[in-house]
Amino acid sequence: MLERDIEKVLVSAEEIKEIEIRLGKVLTADYKDKFPLVIGLLKGCVPFMGELITKMDIQMQVGFMDVSSYHGGIASSGDVKIEKDLGIAVGGRHIIIAEDIVDTGKTISVIMDLLMYRGAASVEVVTLLDKPAGRVVDLHPKYIGTTIPKEFVVGYGLDYEEKYRNLPYVGVLKPEIYIK
Ligand code: IMP
Repeated sequence: MLERDIEKVLVSAEEIKEIEIRLGKVLTADYKDKFPLVIGLLKGCVPFMGELITKMDIQMQVGFMDVSSYHGGIASSGDVKIEKDLGIAVGGRHIIIAEDIVDTGKTISVIMDLLMYRGAASVEVVTLLDKPAGRVVDLHPKYIGTTIPKEFVVGYGLDYEEKYRNLPYVGVLKPEIYIK
């Protein structure tokens, strides 16, 4: 049913699974003995982070923040608002922020600065998708699933007006869905 609204699949379910296994292995090696705190940015992080942490064979802690930047449309509003804070002390902790996509980079850079200000020992980003053509701040996520062109995508956590997050792959919507 949802598939009807999708023009093309950009990252298939199989590719996503391979990405999660690959990144899980790398993070397992890099964060061995560091007891990282993996912070997911709601709600887009949910499927990716949920799977990724099961591929990390180390002790860790998870936490969530709810941060809004897009307000339901297809263009970034630019301002970042913390709807729900972490509620975990981050002093001295090694943090991995898990994201669905890095586009302008504004959301992540605001959160990285905040966590460093609160005393984190390190903050890195793991993102399923990187859209470097959209970048307006100098930000290079250390762990990237795959790089995509400057297109608006949905699925596997990513939404259009809060819909399509439950697609098992990442795809591009048919233009008639958002051009009204
Ligand atoms: P940034 O601050 O511009 O990097 O945007 C980060 C957030 O914007 C992501 O966590 C998504 O929620 C949203 N976003 C950016 N690009 C897309 C897209 O192509 N589809 C859906 N949401 C997007």
